[in-house]
Amino acid sequence: MSPVIRDATVADVAFLIEIEQQSFSNPNWDVHTFEKYACIVAEIDGRVAGFVVSRETAAALGGAPAEREILNLAVAPEFRRSGIATALLNHELTREAIHFLEVRESNIAAQALYRKCGFVEVGRRPEYYELPAESAIVMRVRKC
Ligand SMILES: CC(C)(COP(=O)(O)OP(=O)(O)OC[C@H]1O[C@@H](n2cnc3c(N)ncnc32)[C@H](O)[C@@H]1OP(=O)(O)O)[C@@H](O)C(=O)NCCC(=O)NCCS
Repeated sequence: MSPVIRDATVADVAFLIEIEQQSFSNPNWDVHTFEKYACIVAEIDGRVAGFVVSRETAAALGGAPAEREILNLAVAPEFRRSGIATALLNHELTREAIHFLEVRESNIAAQALYRKCGFVEVGRRPEYYELPAESAIVMRVRKC
């Protein structure tokens, strides 16, 4: 399955919220959160199948590259294991920046995805998540 990757529009937000609710134990992103950050969507046959959201956390300065954080990533259940998250991440990682993210310790699927895209563990944040309370693994990558 080869998705169309494009910037999200206001018309996508209802679909993004639906995927968010299908994907997380504690879905807490609303319209305003999605509109606040850079969001890329993957489309299959005209349907929004997944998204990745990121923000710049440090600008490029004095030869040091910019830094970005991946804030949210999800694929609708019916489209999973078809390379959609990989396509989204590959697109996100074309931005000239070092990328960071946090992932739940129990989220083995996402960790496998991130490792496949070149992310490595650089630290842990104890009790970072709620509902359920859980530590985060911090990962980073320079290029996919
Ligand atoms: C994690 C998630 C985004 C993966 O999306 P996806 O489109 O299915 O991922 P891909 O098809 O690109 O998979 C790429 C690789 O990730 C790994 N992977 C993906 N899903 C996996 C699973 N359920 N179990 C183990 N490994 C998995 C595999 O290595 C896979 O490569 P392979 O299919 O060749 O074995 C999706 O399962 C999801 O939306 N989960 C709920 C939300 C979530 O956890 N988001 C991440 C928050 S940090």
